[in-house]
Amino acid sequence: MKISFVKYGLPSTGIVVVTAVSDGKLSESAAKLDKKTGGALTRAVRGSRFEGKKGQTLNVIAPAGTRLDRVMLVGLGKAKDMTVLEMQKLGGRIYAGTLQAKKGLVVVALDAVTDAKLSAAEMASEIAFGANLRSYRFDKYKTKLKPENKPNIKTLRIACTGFANARKKYGSLAKIADGVFFTRDLVSEPPNILYPDTLAKQAKTLEKLGIKVQIFGESQMRRLGMGALLGVGQGSVRESRLVVMQWNGGPKGRGKIAQPIAFVGKGVTFDTGGISIKPSAGMEDMKWDMGGSGVVIGLMKALAGRKAKVNVVGVVGLVENMPGGNAQRPGDIVTSMSGQTIEVLNTDAEGRLVLADALHYTKERFKPKFMVNLATLTGAIIVSLGSHHAGLFSNNDQLSERLTRAGEDVEERLWRLPLSDAYDKMINSQIADMQNIGGRGAGSITAAQFLQRFVGEIPWAHLDIAGVTWSKSDEPTVPKGGTAFGVRLLDRLVSNNYEN
Ligand code: BES
Ligand code: MN
Ligand code: ZN
Repeated sequence: MKISFVKYGLPSTGIVVVTAVSDGKLSESAAKLDKKTGGALTRAVRGSRFEGKKGQTLNVIAPAGTRLDRVMLVGLGKAKDMTVLEMQKLGGRIYAGTLQAKKGLVVVALDAVTDAKLSAAEMASEIAFGANLRSYRFDKYKTKLKPENKPNIKTLRIACTGFANARKKYGSLAKIADGVFFTRDLVSEPPNILYPDTLAKQAKTLEKLGIKVQIFGESQMRRLGMGALLGVGQGSVRESRLVVMQWNGGPKGRGKIAQPIAFVGKGVTFDTGGISIKPSAGMEDMKWDMGGSGVVIGLMKALAGRKAKVNVVGVVGLVENMPGGNAQRPGDIVTSMSGQTIEVLNTDAEGRLVLADALHYTKERFKPKFMVNLATLTGAIIVSLGSHHAGLFSNNDQLSERLTRAGEDVEERLWRLPLSDAYDKMINSQIADMQNIGGRGAGSITAAQFLQRFVGEIPWAHLDIAGVTWSKSDEPTVPKGGTAFGVRLLDRLVSNNYEN
C-alpha cells in the first residue's frame, strides 16, 4: 500500500474518511459534507450509536448531493485524551474498514482538533503508521488467491495542514514498519524453508543498508569453544550459525565513546524438544522459536533504515533442535565458551544453552554498555503473564525502567519478575557447574538465572517473549500471526535514551 500526504481538502469522488470527536461533534470537513448532503451525516449519526468515541465508525454509503462512494466517519474520542497510540489504532481500523474499496484509493480528510495535544500533521503520520502496520500480510504460499480475496486498497492519502511535516515524520516511522515486517516475515516462514543457514542469509541482506554482517559456521564456533550452542544443534542435519550484525551510526572513535549497545536473540528455527521430545499437538508453533532472533534482525533493519545515531550490535544464535542418532542426550555435560560446564538434564531447555554462548561471546568481544536478549524461552511465562506482557528479568534497575518505559510508549508491555540467589541455587548441579533446568516451579525465573550466569557484571536484561510473539487475533495495528513484539519497543528504547 502506498501512503501519501497532500494538502488539506476534500476529494469529490471515491471513499473519504472524516472525523468526529465525542460527543458526536463533526469536524469541519465532516460538517462541510453534511451540508452538501442536506444533513445526511447528522441523520446517520442520530440514527445510530455513533458518538464520536474512539474505536467507533459509521459508514454513509453514496450520499446524495455528492459523487462520493462512501463517507466513513471515525471517532477520535475526547480531544484531550487523544494520543499517538490511539491515532495508530485509528489508522489500523481505517485500513481494516476500507480494504475492500474497489477503486483502491482511500482519502482521509483530516482536520486539526481544538484542545488536542497532537497537531494535524502528527495525527496524520501516526494514522499512516498504524494503517501500514495493519496492512501486513503473509500470503506468499497461497497460490490460488482470487483477486477478490486480496485487499484492494492501493493508496491511502491523507489530506491535512502541515502535510509536508507529516510526510517527513512518517519517513522514519515507515522504516520502523519495514523492520517490523521483516521480523513478521521471518517468524511466519515454515521451518523447512527457514533454518539456520537460510536465516543467516536473510540477515546478510541487511548489508545493503550499511550493516556489517558476519556469519560463523560450526567449525568457527567449535574453535571459539561454543559447546553449549553446538550441543543443541548436533542432532540436526542443518548446520548451526552465529550471526553478528553491526550498525555504527553513533560516535566514532575508540573505547568508551564508540562503546556499542547490544541485542542478542534466541534463534531456534525449530524446537522439537530433541530427545526430551515435545508432544505432537501444537508442535508446529515451534517454527517461531526463532522469534528472539527475528526481532533482533528486524530491529537492526529498522535502526539502520532510519539511520539511528547509535552504535549497536545484534547477535543471534541459530540452531535447529532435533532428535536423531547424533542428538544430545539427557545427562550429557557440555562446556560453554565461558568455560562453565552444564549438565543437560532436559534437551528441551535448549534456548538458554544457545544464549549462554551468544551472550558470553557478545560480552567478551564488544564489552557493550548493556545487553538485552530476547527469547521465546519458557512455556511458564505464558502461564504467568499470558499474551499481554512479556517477562522482564534484569540485573540493573535503570535498564529495567528504561525498557518498561519504552514498552508503555509503544504498547509492547513488560512485567519485571525477580532474580535472586535462592532461585539461582535451584540450577546447581551435582556433578557440573550447573544444570539446564530447575526443580518444580518458577520455570521462567530459573531460566533467567541460568542466563545471568553468562553475563558477568554488564547491565543486562532478558525478555521472555514466548507469550507475545504470535497472536491468534487481529488487533488494530497487529494482524494475527507473527507480531514482531520487541522491534518497536527496542527501537523506542534506543531513541528515548541512546541517540545523540
Ligand atoms: N521454545 C520453548 C518455550 C516455548 C513454549 C515457547 C511455548 C513458545 C511457546 C522452550 O525451548 C522450551 O521448550 N522450554 C521448556 C523448558 C522446560 C523443559 C524446563 C518449557 O517451557 O516447557
Ligand atoms: Mn525447548
Ligand atoms: Zn525453544
